[in-house]
Amino acid sequence: MNAVLARTEASLTDLRPTPGDITRDALAGLAMSPKQLPSKYFYDERGSQLFETITRQPEYYLTRVEMALLESRMADIAYAIGPQAHVVEYGSGSGRKTEQLLECLHDPVAYTPIEISRSTVLASTARLAQLFPKIEMLPVCADFTRPVELPEPAREPRHIQMFFPGSTLGNFTHHESVVLLRAMHATMGRRGQALIGIDLDKDTATLEAAYNDNAGVTAQFTLNLLARLNREIGSDFDLDGFRHRAVFARERGRIETFLVSQRAQEVTVAGQRFHFAAAEAMLVEYSHKYTDAGFEQLVASADLKVVDGWNDPRDWFGLRMLEPR
Ligand code: AVJ
Repeated sequence: MNAVLARTEASLTDLRPTPGDITRDALAGLAMSPKQLPSKYFYDERGSQLFETITRQPEYYLTRVEMALLESRMADIAYAIGPQAHVVEYGSGSGRKTEQLLECLHDPVAYTPIEISRSTVLASTARLAQLFPKIEMLPVCADFTRPVELPEPAREPRHIQMFFPGSTLGNFTHHESVVLLRAMHATMGRRGQALIGIDLDKDTATLEAAYNDNAGVTAQFTLNLLARLNREIGSDFDLDGFRHRAVFARERGRIETFLVSQRAQEVTVAGQRFHFAAAEAMLVEYSHKYTDAGFEQLVASADLKVVDGWNDPRDWFGLRMLEPR
């Protein structure tokens, strides 16, 4: 192991979900009607790798469009953020967008990724530490939907800058988003700001293609959830017994991803048996698509307001700067 990785590991705050957390959430979801499983558990090591592969599929425009947008508007964004920030990122993934941001900020004090995949957060912070030796790296492995106490940087920051790109907010229900935005508001405090990436409402064909790529990577990503549960909590899902399907529900403004049971079957999780009918669809992910009016209303429920915003030329994806109201 190299020195940077060892140092990163030494400073890691490790609050990753336990098998007990995962079992409790899986049992709660399977008891619902229709059955559900939480999408946050997609991101084990293999799931995080599969997501990276999704971002390179021709149909999955989100990452490409957002990175181009960050690239072209970064001078304005960096100016809006200001100097000496403690940057706190939710669900940092590979850290490629972080790299774009940290490169352009004026004298950032520290960087805290809060990421559910331990291997992902260690690898990305080790890489960023090498690129930005002056920025203190304070990684946290945790489920960011629960309150997390921030590590304190050695140097006093001027403000906390939340960074939440990728339209990850879209994975949460309306109620969960409000809870999360309120927690974010509490974490960043009165002088804090948040930069959030949101996928914008658009035609159904473009949206559905993005979540049903031709190469089948998204299908593998979705099914990996079952493989992970089998491995980590000892369930017995038959991976050949379920198929991926993603549809845009315009009434609800979101992509809904299902695993559809290919036949009548029984699954055992932590000693409890669950029956699946043939063609029964289990809901495993939402990806909300936003309008400006809808997003403004949403953040207002968390006492936040949009103070700045940037879209790509086709209005496919947006970045929004939020502050306390
Ligand atoms: C990582 C949450 C932004 O919802 O678009 C990609 C995850 N799921 N393809 C999204 C995902 C299926 C992705 N986010």
